[in-house]
Amino acid sequence: MRTSRHITLGVALLGTLAAAVLPACRGDRSEKPPRRFLPDMDQQPRWNPQDHSEFYVDGRVHRVPDDRAVAFGYHPTSPAMLDDVAWGASYLDERAALLAEDDAYYRGLDADGGYVAYAPVEPTAAMIERGQERFNIYCSACHGYLGDSKGTVGDRWSIPPANLHNPLYTDRSANQGTDGYIFHIIRNGFWNDDGTNRMPAYGHAVDEADAWAIVLYLRSLQRSQGATLNDLESGERSRLESTRGAAPEGGA
Ligand code: HEC
Repeated sequence: MRTSRHITLGVALLGTLAAAVLPACRGDRSEKPPRRFLPDMDQQPRWNPQDHSEFYVDGRVHRVPDDRAVAFGYHPTSPAMLDDVAWGASYLDERAALLAEDDAYYRGLDADGGYVAYAPVEPTAAMIERGQERFNIYCSACHGYLGDSKGTVGDRWSIPPANLHNPLYTDRSANQGTDGYIFHIIRNGFWNDDGTNRMPAYGHAVDEADAWAIVLYLRSLQRSQGATLNDLESGERSRLESTRGAAPEGGA
C-alpha cells in the first residue's frame, strides 16, 4: 500500500515538474536568456580585445610580453621531435629565426665580431635570381640597375649613392668590401656619426635570406662589369659569338 502511494505521489510530482519545465521547450520565442540545464563552459567571464581592466595595474587587458622573454618558436613540440620528420623543417627554421643565435647568418659577423668575408649560405642560381629581383625593387632606384649609382631617385638624393663597383666594395680583405658589411648596410642602413642618415635601412622589407641573396646578386653584378668573353665557359662563349658574329680582332 505504502509503495503504491509513493508511486502515485512520484508520478504527480514528475507531472508538475514537466508542466513547469516543458513550456520552455515548446519552441516559443522569448526575450529571456535560454534555460541551460547543462551549462558546461558555454558562458564564461571574458575580456574583449582592447578592453579596460581593473585587475592589472596598467589597466590594459592586452598584456605586453616581458622584455626578458626569449622567443622559442610558435610550435610547442620539442625540437628533438621535429628533427627527422619532413614537416618539422619549417618549424625548426622558424625557431632558428626567432632565436637568431647564428651571428654570421643573422648579423653578418664572425666569431671575433668582424664582418664575414663570404656570405654564410650556399649560393644557388635561384638565390641569385631572387637577389636580382630584390635588388631591382629596393636598391636600383638609387644605385641604378647596374649598381653604378645612376638610379633616378639617387640622382636627386641629397647624398650621391655609392657606386657599388668602386673597389672599396669589391675588395673582401677590407671591412667595406666584405659580404657581411654589405649585408649589414642593407639591413641597417648607413649613418653619419652624429646619427643623421645617409642611406635608409631596408631591414623591415628585406629579411636575412633576401639580404644575402642581394649580396650574392651584387657580387655577380660586380663581376659582370668589365668581364671579357674569356670569362665565359666555352659553350656560352660560342653561343654568344654565334649570335653576335665573330669576336673583334685581338680578342674581346
Ligand atoms: C634612397 C636611396 C638608396 C637606396 C634605395 C639604397 N641606397 Fe645604398 N646608399 C645610398 C647612399 C646615399 C649611400 C651613401 C653614399 C655615401 O656615403 O657616399 C649608400 C651607400 C651604400 C653602400 C656603401 C656603404 C659605405 O660604407 O660606403 C652600399 C654597400 C649600399 N649603399 C648598398 C645598397 C643596397 C644593397 C641597397 C638595396 C637594398 C641600397 N644600398 C639601397 C642610397 C641608397
